[in-house]
Amino acid sequence: MRRASAVLVPIAFLFSVTSATAKSDFLEKILLTYKISDSGSLAERSCGICHVSDSDYGMNSYGKQLAVAMAEADETSLTAAIMKKIEAMDADGDGFTNAEELRADKAPGDSKDKPAGTPKPPPAAGDAKPPASGSGSGAKPPATGTTKPPTGKTEPATTEGGGEGQPQPGAEEAAPPTSEPTEQAEEEPVEEPEPPKRLIPKNGFHPAVVHFPIALFIAGLLLDLWGLLTKKHELLWAGWYNLVLAALSAVIGVVTGYLAMIYMKIPFKGVITEHFLFAVTGAFVMWMMVSMRVHRHEDMHVFQRLVYWLLAVIGLILISWAGHLGGVFVYGE
Ligand code: HEC
Repeated sequence: MRRASAVLVPIAFLFSVTSATAKSDFLEKILLTYKISDSGSLAERSCGICHVSDSDYGMNSYGKQLAVAMAEADETSLTAAIMKKIEAMDADGDGFTNAEELRADKAPGDSKDKPAGTPKPPPAAGDAKPPASGSGSGAKPPATGTTKPPTGKTEPATTEGGGEGQPQPGAEEAAPPTSEPTEQAEEEPVEEPEPPKRLIPKNGFHPAVVHFPIALFIAGLLLDLWGLLTKKHELLWAGWYNLVLAALSAVIGVVTGYLAMIYMKIPFKGVITEHFLFAVTGAFVMWMMVSMRVHRHEDMHVFQRLVYWLLAVIGLILISWAGHLGGVFVYGE
């Protein structure tokens, strides 16, 4: 049947469309990695942990550090290892490291939001001190110390060197092992928290669904035009079926989009609000077209036909813009 194939071809084409991955699952990753409470102030900040705010997706200082670390690691997704890499840094310069702030439910990219108390001295200064703090008696001046115990590992080499013959190379070999293990410890693979398994994915199947109304609507209009030009009824019927399927899938698109917003805790603001409004209006226009045509089909008189094609153009603009905004949201400008 020609009618059936006219409907099936665009559908088959659509199955080849890959589904998009939203960068906004970064929120879930950081919440999981730092076991951030759902009711705390960071959860409230939501996308604003890394972005300027929960509706302005420019990067704050912490988000910028993450983006740099991702680029350096050649990663397109956010991993626990990447977050770990910048833990000791202090993105907002308030004296507390990123990790300290995240663990205290404070924003690492907002200098006004920091844990109570005074920050610990920066780690660089701490590293230089250990020998001094290590020798508990304090009164001992390490510089003049010929006594072995505290710094003993290197000194025997110089004092007993003549007797043993080999201690110097031995001492040199002894030094690296003390520093290597700590470096290795830092590079140990970081455990990635497993997101909980769920029946309905976080995106509510939205990325897999949204291409249907767009392609079906466009295919339907083209079939109609072709049918009008060639006066072939089969083509007009195919156009009609595509329109009905477009209108149905548009409703599914709106519902799954709404679910995705709820599941992914995406705030109803900015680009998302616009995307939603254009999509809903586009779906509405499709249903107006369906209702105009459902009884009349080619029997519409000229004025009705004009209104119908005006709606078609408006619908096309609305869903194209909705699709564009969806793209901006997922992939950035
Ligand atoms: C853990 C930090 C983090 C959180 C939380 C986060 N993002 Fe992002 N987001 C990033 C990073 C890093 C990038 C840049 C990724 C890249 O460069 O590939 C980014 C990129 C984006 C972009 C693309 C912007 C552009 O210009 O490239 C959008 C849109 C976006 N995020 C939206 C959101 C939304 C919405 C939320 C909340 C639901 C969110 N993000 C939560 C870190 C985060």
